[in-house]
Amino acid sequence: MDLMSVIGQQFETDLVALRDRVNTRLAEYVAAVPDCPETLRESMGYSLLAGGKRLRPILVLLACEACGGAVESALPAACAIEMIHTYSLIHDDLPAMDNDDYRRGRLTNHKVYGDAMAILAGDALLTLAFEVIARDTHPGSVAAACCADLAAASGWCGMVGGQVADLEAEQREARQTTGRTSQNDRGPLDSAAELRQLEAIHRRKTGRLLTSAVTLGARVAQADTNLLGRLEEFGKRVGLAFQIADDLLDVTGDAAKMGKNVGKDATLGKMTYPALLGLEGSRRKADDLIREACGLVEPMGDRARSLCELAKFVTKRDH
Ligand code: IPE
Ligand code: IPE
Ligand code: MG
Ligand code: MG
Ligand code: MG
Repeated sequence: MDLMSVIGQQFETDLVALRDRVNTRLAEYVAAVPDCPETLRESMGYSLLAGGKRLRPILVLLACEACGGAVESALPAACAIEMIHTYSLIHDDLPAMDNDDYRRGRLTNHKVYGDAMAILAGDALLTLAFEVIARDTHPGSVAAACCADLAAASGWCGMVGGQVADLEAEQREARQTTGRTSQNDRGPLDSAAELRQLEAIHRRKTGRLLTSAVTLGARVAQADTNLLGRLEEFGKRVGLAFQIADDLLDVTGDAAKMGKNVGKDATLGKMTYPALLGLEGSRRKADDLIREACGLVEPMGDRARSLCELAKFVTKRDH
């Protein structure tokens, strides 16, 4: 299934144009610079320029447009969030984390460049993201607000914190299956508590960054507090639905289309929506979230239609 089969033809054309603009600017941002180690640059570009849906940067651009801003002005923030996302994928795939061999249709970064270079390429993408926003977003007060937003979404109470919670839940599951106990082992949770814990993991590890994509766009357009708040709520729902769809695709997806291995979550004993709610229950939950998200931006009229269309793609996608 291509984008085309789940969204309209004109919207598809618009999205491809936005994706191309993001890809071109990303390539410029990681072009060779004298005095920067070439192997590091290669390793950064290997993962950053390997394709990917570019959902987060496109959300930045569409949110900016929906709030009356110009796409061009949001391109630095759009590229920055893709850099953070790519860094999170490089680190997520490391042997110490999910230990994956394929990403975006190619060998994972550490398989090609080694663990140390993969860690450092991630570090360099993370810092480049903030350099790009601080230098290229205007005015300075908006750049500062965007840096704070993206840092909070990516950091210890956002994506990084969520990744920690994801790994802790995995280790807890492993202890329970081997019957071992430790000081950290607080015994089995009831299913409502498990669901609350899982939602908290997903909201942080994936939801926060997706939400930030939407609020970054709104900030660049200098949206008022009311609109910013509405878009934030939209982003929270789309972000959670996105990770539910990722969990579903790990069970039902096709590795070739997704460019990454499937069936990993069960092997690692991850806490996922399909494991707790089943396939149908998970699909229903994701659909409900997207319906709610679209309902939130509906009062914005025509200018928010693209955001809603993209939100629908999140649950219909097959990659
Ligand atoms: C995969 O993200 C990792 C998650 C946060 C679930 P994407 O599905 O957006 O991956 P790319 O960017 O298209 O490769
Ligand atoms: C990744 O979640 C979330 C990140 C912060 C990168 P997953 O571990 O489920 O992502 P995939 O399935 O490896 O892409
Ligand atoms: Mg992971
Ligand atoms: Mg993973
Ligand atoms: Mg996954």
